[in-house]
Amino acid sequence: MDNFYKNKVDFKVKSEGRIEGVVIVPFVQKEDILKTAAVGLIEKKSRDFLKTLIKKIPKLDFNLIDLGTDSILLIKIDKETNWRIVQTLIRQALRFLKENNREKISFCLADWKIQSFEPKSIAELIVSNSILADFDFSRYYKTEPKDGWTKIKSVSLFVRPKDLASVRAGIKSGILIGQETNRARFLSNLPGGDLKPSDLVAIAQSVSREVGLKIKVLNAKNLEKIKAGGLLGVGRGSKDKPYLIIIEPREKQKRAGEFHFIGKGITFDTGGLHIKVGENMKEMQMDMSGAASVLAASALIAQLKIPINFVTLIPTAENMISGESYRPGDILKSLSGQSIEVGSPDAEGRIVLADAITYGKKFYQPNLIVELSTLTGASMIALGTKTAALFTSNNKIEPLLRRIGESSGDYVWPLPMGDEYAAEIKAPFADVLNIGKTRYGGATAGAMFLWHFAQPTDFVHLDIAPRMTADESDQLNQGSVGFGVRYLKELAEAAEEFKDVVGKK
Ligand code: BES
Ligand code: ZN
Ligand code: MN
Repeated sequence: MDNFYKNKVDFKVKSEGRIEGVVIVPFVQKEDILKTAAVGLIEKKSRDFLKTLIKKIPKLDFNLIDLGTDSILLIKIDKETNWRIVQTLIRQALRFLKENNREKISFCLADWKIQSFEPKSIAELIVSNSILADFDFSRYYKTEPKDGWTKIKSVSLFVRPKDLASVRAGIKSGILIGQETNRARFLSNLPGGDLKPSDLVAIAQSVSREVGLKIKVLNAKNLEKIKAGGLLGVGRGSKDKPYLIIIEPREKQKRAGEFHFIGKGITFDTGGLHIKVGENMKEMQMDMSGAASVLAASALIAQLKIPINFVTLIPTAENMISGESYRPGDILKSLSGQSIEVGSPDAEGRIVLADAITYGKKFYQPNLIVELSTLTGASMIALGTKTAALFTSNNKIEPLLRRIGESSGDYVWPLPMGDEYAAEIKAPFADVLNIGKTRYGGATAGAMFLWHFAQPTDFVHLDIAPRMTADESDQLNQGSVGFGVRYLKELAEAAEEFKDVVGKK
């Protein structure tokens, strides 16, 4: 795999000395600016100059100010500004300075006392978001510009001497978080012609080798043997045959419970014989974003040595048209033995995911299934583009799942599922129908289909279609946002809080 996801910024930690380059100064009220630790570190001359300037500048909210030897970037924040918002502010600052050819940036950690302030986590936040802000999908450009790419060369964190060690640890984990999220973004952005199911397999193998995870791959022949008729049916129209990828830690981990991370790996979604029209097929190379995220998250969990037991399952196929394609009205025999009536070959994701869910339940013992997929346009219609849709079969864990969304920056918002929606996916001639019977609540119909196969195991479905590509307010370069990598990392860290689920069996 190309190294485009690797971090190129030099992160430093210091407890003394002068600030380097532009120092970023968050403030709530104008009066606070001169009291910040950062302003305390600049030269007296600059400070005096700043004092007079503050009075003159009519609007202080996001201002880059050169003070002779020192430069500062003022960022106004709210008292209520939370972790999620701070992340986009950091990215906004970094991208702005990059565009303005500022190569060195400093932060004084003492100025970032936001919510539960802990030097390690704020360092992690600054570092990971700097790396996200720095990412470019530049693989396909012919040459580097003559004067090079604009670059952020270094980010220095100024801390109290007693925090040096914990901040160093935060930098280390922040680099891994940023890199792995960028890995997911890089993979999602790859054109469909360059990332087929077999390519995704090769990448999953090299990633697993790199981070010391165990991997098993079932090819079409193996899938026929176990009768995974859903995944095989969806993949039939493409020359590149489907696979099921299974990744897990080499050794049993300390914490109780087994988590299954499942990601939709449709490398390109034409819609099949229900072919997508107009603009709808655009960006469907990103229909493997769920797969990219669970893969990168697994690599991240392994490198951070978070001691949970997990199994990552990636069903991958290309939803292509040809004389071999599965048809509307076809009835597929899924791995579970249940038959699936194909209402639409464009609702392909849920079919391949059903077989992955079943495989996990058949050959392992999941306590909680967490599944990520760019499943429905309906979820985008419902929620817009700033939050993924959260569905869970267990209402007790919903507050925890939402909290993880807030703190990780991968924001989620609930939509309903439950027995009262089961009639939506009743099929005339098979055990289950792959689309909703009415035109309402399409995202819920998708969730109910998956739940049909996951039940009775506790189940979380994140429909990440709304977060597939960056929104203006994300402060990221266009393309994939890598949604889910940070979410799953924080979910893994919170494993013990899923007592209600894990303690049940
Ligand atoms: N991959 C699409 C959903 C999608 C659409 C993701 C736009 C991101 C952006 C999915 O396979 C699909 O085509 N869903 C259909 C379902 C329908 C046929 C029941 C949809 O949303 O139209
Ligand atoms: Zn799809
Ligand atoms: Mn589709």
